[in-house]
Amino acid sequence: MSLERWTSVDEYYAKLLMPPDAVLNAALERSNAAELPAINVAANQGKMLMIFAQMQKAHRILEIGTLGGYSTIWLARALPAGGRLITLEYEQKHADVARENIKHAGLSDKVEVRVGSAHDTLPALVKEGVQPFDLVFIDADKPGYPEYFKWSMKLSRPGTIIIADNVVRDGEVVNPNSEDERVRGIRAFNEVITKEKRFNATAIQTVGAKGYDGFIIGTVTE
Ligand code: SAH
Ligand code: DHB
Ligand code: MG
Repeated sequence: MSLERWTSVDEYYAKLLMPPDAVLNAALERSNAAELPAINVAANQGKMLMIFAQMQKAHRILEIGTLGGYSTIWLARALPAGGRLITLEYEQKHADVARENIKHAGLSDKVEVRVGSAHDTLPALVKEGVQPFDLVFIDADKPGYPEYFKWSMKLSRPGTIIIADNVVRDGEVVNPNSEDERVRGIRAFNEVITKEKRFNATAIQTVGAKGYDGFIIGTVTE
């Protein structure tokens, strides 16, 4: 099976299940114009995240890794009035593009973009004593995943959903000798989550316009 085939199936289902979306298209155009890498989730994956947040009846969402705010918009659309999404981004330029996209999506009142390394902004959230989040989406630099997961657990409650992107990487995840720091990061993350008795997870492989990758999806049990 080829990327071409996967992409045409993505397009087929996008046409069937997702009405044309000027806001999200403009967000991707603005991200392209600013030369951000096109490593946002695919449209069907963004909608999956939105549906997870709806199933969870999430009022509070945490995202680690904003880029241009594409996944942010999908997730924030699931929030009820008064709901809140905090998204963490290291690059000032990415955060600027994201804020613009979020504004054009009419979501500025619900979404807060915090600039800085998540290695600093996550402990800051804990220190502030924020309310626990209902859903966490981990999608920043892969070597950071083990630490981001530990902080996410501290910012969770029993029933919180934690989702991590890019856990398959063309199947390279099964290679214990991989020299790709992203793959090594995911494998270290997997070691941490399997040791965490309060996290109950599964892994789903995906193919599509963005290639062959996958998600870890789990719930915090206690
Ligand atoms: N969630 C986005 C894609 C995120 S790409 C979407 O699907 O639309 C990963 C992002 O993580 C990039 O913007 C990158 O700058 C950011 N990032 C990298 N290292 C980081 C760190 N230490 N803390 C916070 N964000 C980081
Ligand atoms: C990369 C990061 C992502 O979050 C993604 O979805 C795809 C690729 C990367 O760093 O290569
Ligand atoms: Mg990703």
